[in-house]
Amino acid sequence: MIVARTISELDAACTALRARFGRLALVPTMGALHAGHKALVDAAVATGAATATSIFVNPLQFGANEDLARYPRTEDADLAMLEAAGNHLVWMPDVAVMYPPGGVTLVDVDGPPAERWEAEHRPGHFRGMATVVTKLFGQVRPDAAYFGEKDWQQLQVVRRFVADLHLRLEIVGIETVRESDGMALSSRNRFLAPAERQTAALLNKVMRAAAASDDVAAKLAEGREQLTAAGFAVDYLALVDGPTLAPLDRAVPGARIVAAARLGSVRLIDNIAAG
Ligand code: PAJ
Repeated sequence: MIVARTISELDAACTALRARFGRLALVPTMGALHAGHKALVDAAVATGAATATSIFVNPLQFGANEDLARYPRTEDADLAMLEAAGNHLVWMPDVAVMYPPGGVTLVDVDGPPAERWEAEHRPGHFRGMATVVTKLFGQVRPDAAYFGEKDWQQLQVVRRFVADLHLRLEIVGIETVRESDGMALSSRNRFLAPAERQTAALLNKVMRAAAASDDVAAKLAEGREQLTAAGFAVDYLALVDGPTLAPLDRAVPGARIVAAARLGSVRLIDNIAAG
């Protein structure tokens, strides 16, 4: 497995891998890798493409009051996991390589699906995400890139700007990997105290109950109360159209339930199908 930290190391590695494999796949991550990230890498490796995973904690997508400083960094374990998964290249630029002095260009997705929900609660987040992902696509020039459905709105925003900017690559969405109690794996789960971790499972539980109900909207209102009573601060819990994230009042094919809620200092997000 090659580890590249500069653009010239990356170029040499991509040229060699392309010559050997033909196709190149990219898995963008911020590190602190877990089985959810591994599912993306496994899916890419399984296609027979050379697989590059990027690890870059992107300051531009964190708000002033967010957890950039305490974002977990587990480089040795990440590299061991990637090597064992058959990943071929790790792209780990530092901030000065990703954002050289003088850069003034941002990618701003200025409408649905980058409205409401995460856009409202994390102003500037999607601009930072879209900017760094566009840079990663320009650096690696992959034929395909893999994203988790875990971050449903992010996946739709990526699909939108890839179409709008005529970027020539395939975007593959991979189903959310969960714990046995339904809780979505996340690098932030490690910050939950054991009692909070028990409570955290309620988020996915109320979402599943709503998805299975005849009156999703009523069940979501009930679920919000249950979550609040259990100690969550709910940012949103809503039924939306899958691709555009527009709010819906009843389930239609392709609908999703999306949620974000804070428990102690940890912000959890999740989504499931509801149509
Ligand atoms: P990060 O949070 O590290 O996630 C990297 C990728 O792993 C994302 O596509 C995310 O949706 C996926 N992922 C995380 N948890 C998952 C789970 N439980 N099951 C399946 N997939 C999961 O998302 C980002 O980083 C950044 O915004 C990034 C796209 C790298 C841009 O900086």
